[in-house]
Amino acid sequence: MRFFVEHTLTIDGTEFVPTVNVNVLKENVPFLLEIEINHTSKRITLVKTNGIIYAISNTCPHQHRESLHNGYIENNCIVCPEHGWTFDLETGENVDSSIGKQKLKKYDLVIQNQIICIKLNSLFKEKWGFDFE
Ligand code: FES
Repeated sequence: MRFFVEHTLTIDGTEFVPTVNVNVLKENVPFLLEIEINHTSKRITLVKTNGIIYAISNTCPHQHRESLHNGYIENNCIVCPEHGWTFDLETGENVDSSIGKQKLKKYDLVIQNQIICIKLNSLFKEKWGFDFE
């Protein structure tokens, strides 16, 4: 789903991007979301498992493929469909550190009025050097 940001939301002094309603997520089914703001876009994957929602990069840390939205969820981890690297959704760590220590990028989020709001600064600061704070 492509999502154009028309406004941000300030919660306790921090800016968030309001995105989709929690009801669009199905348990253990990754959901691809493309967020566009100021002509810059980023594709992330939302996952709901055991009732908890996570926002993660769609790019697998292994070979930097945009593949995680096609991954599957198992034991609170997401498994990349390309070569099976498996990342803990809570910590972002590769469960088999013997094959790689690269961590999955996660984004801070809050739920407000059923809307998943992603922390703006965690989305765009590193890659594009924007500083929204
Ligand atoms: S690209 Fe994800 S496991 Fe290789």
